[in-house]
Amino acid sequence: MRYVATTGPGGAEVLQIQTTATPSPGPGDVLIRVAASGVNRPDLAQRAGLYPPPPGASPILGLEVAGIIEGAPSDSGFQPGDRVCALVPGGGYATHCVTPASHCLPIPKNLDFTHAAGIAETFFTVWANVFQIGGLKAGQRFLVHGGTSGIGVTALQLARAFGAEAYATAGSERKVAACVELGARAAINYRSEDFVARLAALTEGQGVDVILDMVGGDYTAKNIACLAMNGRLVQIATLGGAKVQIHLPTVMQKRLVITGSTLRPRSVADKARIASELRERVWPLLESGQVKVVVDKVFEFGDVRKAHEYLEAGEHIGKVILVHEAG
Ligand SMILES: NC(=O)c1ccc[n+]([C@@H]2O[C@H](COP(=O)([O-])OP(=O)(O)OC[C@H]3O[C@@H](n4cnc5c(N)ncnc54)[C@H](OP(=O)(O)O)[C@@H]3O)[C@@H](O)[C@H]2O)c1
Repeated sequence: MRYVATTGPGGAEVLQIQTTATPSPGPGDVLIRVAASGVNRPDLAQRAGLYPPPPGASPILGLEVAGIIEGAPSDSGFQPGDRVCALVPGGGYATHCVTPASHCLPIPKNLDFTHAAGIAETFFTVWANVFQIGGLKAGQRFLVHGGTSGIGVTALQLARAFGAEAYATAGSERKVAACVELGARAAINYRSEDFVARLAALTEGQGVDVILDMVGGDYTAKNIACLAMNGRLVQIATLGGAKVQIHLPTVMQKRLVITGSTLRPRSVADKARIASELRERVWPLLESGQVKVVVDKVFEFGDVRKAHEYLEAGEHIGKVILVHEAG
């Protein structure tokens, strides 16, 4: 198969298309002929040597794909020829990859491979962190930072679809407008406005119930200030810094929960549970078009370096996708 090799930790220049043996599925795995692969920020961190794959996972980059099943266990509910999208433990930047059958989902009606490849990483992450861990409910208020990131566009749409009042921060007026179009009641340009003060005004001093944060650093104390009584701060990355200072009495007075998670090292069973909840609760929203996969830009597989440079530049709104010939 063809795959993206990394010649060492570094910038996009370390990415190279090479060939290697097609992986063999283990017990419970499917083999997928990949039509399109999603590009995510964790891939940039792995390429730079900052995010090693968990033990046992493929060292090849890539956490999500869409394609056609070539081989599946007889009791998996899938058979050769089925069109699927899948969360993969690694190995997504290749023409073939293997993943547990329970991490595959049928491609929602009306979606092509390109859009389907952009579902798994952000929908699994948002479902686990905003709904399972953060416990966001209809009628509650929700804030996501990085509202136009792959994660952000999914979080905004799902929060809105499940009846929450959604807010976002983003780094430009163009991104702010996109957040509002995706369902935010308001979005705040953090470069020109103090998001704590603006959110307090927007919520009449009540604050928000759940925050999904990928920034950390000096955002953590500000997030605590933005939370309502019994609020939940769910951390999924620390782009702005991993060491933080907070005012613990505020946490106590508001009875806050500060939590977070990482998707990739979670057990096969955990991810299967997320997949099955997505299929039941979220697939109907994707099939009806109420929730969309927001694809910003599509690159040919051979242009993987350009795709990484593009994502790294941070001007995108939504997902960046690599397509193979079949895509
Ligand atoms: N814990 C998990 O399970 C999990 C799973 C998937 C992804 N993640 C993490 O979630 C984050 C978003 O992933 P993604 O693929 O959706 O990313 P993405 O599309 O590349 O978006 C990241 C966005 O974050 C904003 N940002 C804010 N502060 C930043 C900073 N200091 N450096 C870079 N960007 C900054 C930028 O938008 P602005 O212009 O608005 O600042 C940027 O566009 C990543 O950090 C990723 O590692 C975590």
